[in-house]
Amino acid sequence: MKTTIADIHKRVDSEVELMGWVYNRRSSGSIQFLILRDGSGFIQAVVAKDEVAPEEFDLCSSLTQESSVKLRGRVREDHRAPGGYELTVTGLDAFQVSEEYPITLKEHGIEFLLDNRHLWIRTPAQRAILKIRAEVIRLARGFLDDNGFTLVDTPILTGAACEGTSTLFETDYFGETAYLSQSGQLYSEATIAALGKVYCFGPTFRAEKSKTRRHLIEFWMVEPEMAFFTMEDSNELQERFVSHIVQGILEGCPEHLKELERDTASLKKVVPPFPRITYDEAIDMLHEKGFDIDWGDDFGSPHETALAESFDRPVFVTHYPTVAKAFYMEPDPERPEVILGADLLAPEGYGEIIGGSQRIHDPVLLEKRMREHNLPLESYQWYLDLRRYGSVPHSGFGMGIERVVAWICGLNHLREAIPFARLLNRLHP
Ligand code: 4AD
Ligand code: MG
Repeated sequence: MKTTIADIHKRVDSEVELMGWVYNRRSSGSIQFLILRDGSGFIQAVVAKDEVAPEEFDLCSSLTQESSVKLRGRVREDHRAPGGYELTVTGLDAFQVSEEYPITLKEHGIEFLLDNRHLWIRTPAQRAILKIRAEVIRLARGFLDDNGFTLVDTPILTGAACEGTSTLFETDYFGETAYLSQSGQLYSEATIAALGKVYCFGPTFRAEKSKTRRHLIEFWMVEPEMAFFTMEDSNELQERFVSHIVQGILEGCPEHLKELERDTASLKKVVPPFPRITYDEAIDMLHEKGFDIDWGDDFGSPHETALAESFDRPVFVTHYPTVAKAFYMEPDPERPEVILGADLLAPEGYGEIIGGSQRIHDPVLLEKRMREHNLPLESYQWYLDLRRYGSVPHSGFGMGIERVVAWICGLNHLREAIPFARLLNRLHP
């Protein structure tokens, strides 16, 4: 009966049919060992000359790495075998004997692997990352779904910028100019007036000319937006949200973290409350650490890494200078030169994983800020309407999925945290 490797424990001592790919083959005379993978797991299959037909044994000898096969056999429990089970093969067929596979079990350079990303994803570590990524998304959405949020999809083709005009991708929209979405936030601000607490989740696009290990051109972001939430309400939600995801991965994905050789001690510490420091305190800390940085400058990766080093869990940096941040962030009424917003910096040098803020809800101030940012007001009339018809204090944030996956998996570059990375110099495969 057809089964998968993940379900093999239910079929001990019975006859099964497994379909998959040959990960490795070695032979010692009258016996051959196949490591089969089927997407759900790995298993060792033993092909003995006297248990199969002669032509099947010959076929087995011709199997190359990544050949696709169908095996029949008996499941045996074997504590010495890698997954605890082994298949004693009684028959085999090949769908295809693979051509010589470019990705062998030896080391390869990163450019070669990226050129072959469509094949590279089959290797155990990459598979573990994809599994963890899917689980991060499931945990993130599950948390919000269970906490009174409604998923609202926001458009990808948009008429106006959210995060600054310098990183927009333009495309022709029947004679008009459309931009690929940098963030669904502005639309989520509209939907809170219908639903209270909402989130959008989808791909976002930034024509970032910078080539860093923390930037992708296309990345996935989950963006909750909450009516009547202050910055601090939002920060409390964020620390519960991030902890839920990290603890959920530790609990649900131990074998994938092990495959990645991830040291989990630091992840175990990710529980609320997270420390909070102001931008002013952060500047003092950076000066003490010898950085040459002026008040008003935004932080780059080295600054974020240095700040996070002083803490054993993610840290909120609050009250950034108004000049360094987006047009929609609410200035602190006591001190308008800083905003009521926070970036959440991950430990171990992974940098900003969340950007969030309270939003300006006064129509006059919002319009003034938009003029200062030279935004074309005619494209934002619908957004200004939200401040004309029952405006309320509200807050929200955006969490980059790949930043979180890279941190949890301990990856040194975001390009492995997404199935097919879009990078400055890479559109293929
Ligand atoms: O700080 P950002 O730009 O904030 C926004 O887009 C807000 N509109 C979100 C909101 O309040 N609804 O981006 C949010 C997060 C960052 O903290 C980071 O995790 C991720 O998105 N991010 C990127 N990830 C990969 N590559 C890039 N180029 C990224 N830019 C931002
Ligand atoms: Mg940011």
